[in-house]
Amino acid sequence: MIGEAALRALLSRMTPDEKAAQATQLYEAFFDAVLAEGAPADGGGAVFDPTGPLGDLRIRRATVAAAGSVLGSSGAARLRRLQDAYLAQSRLKIPLLFMTDVIHGLRTVFPVPLALGASFDPALVRSCARIAATEAAASGLHVTFAPMCDFCRDPRWGRITETTGESPWLNGLLAAAAVRGYQGGDLADPSSVAACMKHFAGYGAVEGGREYDETDISERSLRALHLPAFQAAVDAGAALAMPAFTLVDGVPAAASPWLLRTVLRGEMGFAGVTVSDWGAVAELIPHGVAADRGEAAEKALRAGVDVEMMSSCYANGLAPLLLADRADPAQVDEAVLRILRLKDRLGLFEDPHHGADEAREKAVVLCDAHRAASRDAAARCMVLLANDGTLPLRPALRRIAVVGPYAEAAHLLGAWACDGRDEDCVPLAEALRRRLGADRVVAAPGCAALDEALDPDGLAAVLAAVRAADAVVLAVGEHPSRTGEAASRTDPVLPAPQRALADAVLDAARAAGTPVAAVLYAGRPLVVPELDDRAGALLLAWFPGTAGGEAAADVLLGDREPEGRLPASFPESVGQIPVHHDRLPSGRPSADGFSNGYQVGYRDRSFLPRFAFGHGLSYTTFAYGAPSVDRPALWQEGEGADAAVTVSVAVANTGPRTGTTLVQLYLRDLVASVSRPLLSFRGFERVRLAPGQTRRVSFRIDEPMLRFHDDRMRFVSEPGDFHAFVGPSAARLSDPVAFALRAGRPDRAAGGAR
Ligand code: BGC
Repeated sequence: MIGEAALRALLSRMTPDEKAAQATQLYEAFFDAVLAEGAPADGGGAVFDPTGPLGDLRIRRATVAAAGSVLGSSGAARLRRLQDAYLAQSRLKIPLLFMTDVIHGLRTVFPVPLALGASFDPALVRSCARIAATEAAASGLHVTFAPMCDFCRDPRWGRITETTGESPWLNGLLAAAAVRGYQGGDLADPSSVAACMKHFAGYGAVEGGREYDETDISERSLRALHLPAFQAAVDAGAALAMPAFTLVDGVPAAASPWLLRTVLRGEMGFAGVTVSDWGAVAELIPHGVAADRGEAAEKALRAGVDVEMMSSCYANGLAPLLLADRADPAQVDEAVLRILRLKDRLGLFEDPHHGADEAREKAVVLCDAHRAASRDAAARCMVLLANDGTLPLRPALRRIAVVGPYAEAAHLLGAWACDGRDEDCVPLAEALRRRLGADRVVAAPGCAALDEALDPDGLAAVLAAVRAADAVVLAVGEHPSRTGEAASRTDPVLPAPQRALADAVLDAARAAGTPVAAVLYAGRPLVVPELDDRAGALLLAWFPGTAGGEAAADVLLGDREPEGRLPASFPESVGQIPVHHDRLPSGRPSADGFSNGYQVGYRDRSFLPRFAFGHGLSYTTFAYGAPSVDRPALWQEGEGADAAVTVSVAVANTGPRTGTTLVQLYLRDLVASVSRPLLSFRGFERVRLAPGQTRRVSFRIDEPMLRFHDDRMRFVSEPGDFHAFVGPSAARLSDPVAFALRAGRPDRAAGGAR
């Protein structure tokens, strides 16, 4: 590191235009044109005007020649060349930062983040992020736009696939794990990349799940639901933060000093770099809070946006604003200094190539160990939603028909697959053939995973395969292009042709007495009653990543257990959305979820989900005993602040196989100054037991676990009675055990955004 004094000296030599360029992030295409494979840019003031939409930005060649960061590229050779060409013509020799979206892997792709949420395993998330960082850094990247810490309860929103589910607490554990995995112990380590948590904050609350639409979030839900994962990422040391495209209390995040300065930096203690989302500074104009690009720059700077991604309000506007006294030079300097500090932490002033190394890239990218890790992760994320004994498939089966579009499909990566390629994936039928032999597996897709029409010839082939089989694997799901950014849907169900195909397959299989296991590929909770009502088993594979085909075969054949549990409730109908485990009690509670008289709920349907948070079956069965609590209350005489009650439960494997269950702890605060959720998910332990084996699992509950935002928005606990519940899902819980929190400890209150 060159250190603070050297960075400040550098800053003092920068012109206003150079500062504005340093705070600008551009797509790599700009550099191709200006640096032309190593040739110096002219550095002049001519408007750089490539064809296509990039031309609209009216970026000057001088801005490209002094720009601070590059978006959307990877490859050691290419980025080394780009850095060298840039530095060769740069006046101040400040290296470029290379940033891109490595969301769930670079070339070795892991399950989508929502699926990783299903692992309930911070260690797994950390190791996937570490592998992603190793590949990314060797390929020349310095920053990844991950983890996404958004909170969402609406499967209509395409980006729910990038969340880790509906528990703010679990989201925090996984966000922190991802940050630690990406950043390692030291950003200067050539296998580390800096993590950019996003999108701060509230993007997942878009109304109706409509992409980029308005949000209306109370301060309570902002703090209790949306901020915890960001706070955990800050505490884990996230180096960057990206403000959301959307509004918080009417103000776009990129123009909100309250959000970015008071809350993010002031309350949450974030000291890193903020980078706008793609074009979000210019979008202050259509949002209707800035009249022109100058005003957009003025507002974003005042709010505390350090880097402007892919719009040119800073590049063309900051210097004139400074001249006109409409921008505070100290705020410009503070933004640029933060960018320079990040470059220094990455060691770029000493080695501008950081980890970019063609030999290492060749050795690590999609190496056997990473592919094996992807296979292992995928199996750990798969959720067995229903099973009547159809799974695992019996080894004696002679002929298996794998039907449906995902029989032969290789698009298993999901949204934001970065450098991942479909051709790296093995489709499910092929994975089964490799295991069982080609003569035992017959595949017939029947239709495409996109919403295209059912092909009658394809359907006939499917039905012929079903009739000739001993068992059927029905592989269906949404298409990855229907998930992720700009992929919101009103109807998160299987496309109609696949529903028709599933019906026909299930009818034919029932007539022939053949068991059907359905495998569902999805990036969001889907409403699929037609599958779980009628198929003998339903395995949720999500978008499982590079080795997801092999992993699904491992699970279907029983070599691996389906270890995932739902991190988000699966609704029974679209009209129930949002549906989640931590509902508030209501003044008119309903025991069965129906509004039979004047109770909360609907007349025509329960408000309970089809599959609850935490749900997931195993290939064996477990019995949970009644939980007990070791003491009636916190505190007792002479105790310190670290005192706890312990809730424990005996869990036994009552089935025929060794297996794992996820023992879950939920809490309820019975009376408080604000209405508290019926269930708050606050603990879990994965237990692996042999048949007949029993283990006692204990959860420690201390006072900080009981804190919440009270009626004055202070983050405190309130004395009173609490209930603890234990079970294998939010829908299968023990009777409560009670304990109390007594008044009287002076060190209980804590302020802040947590
Ligand atoms: C997305 C961000 C992403 C950025 C850069 C935007 O459209 O909202 O999540 O990091 O593009 O690719």
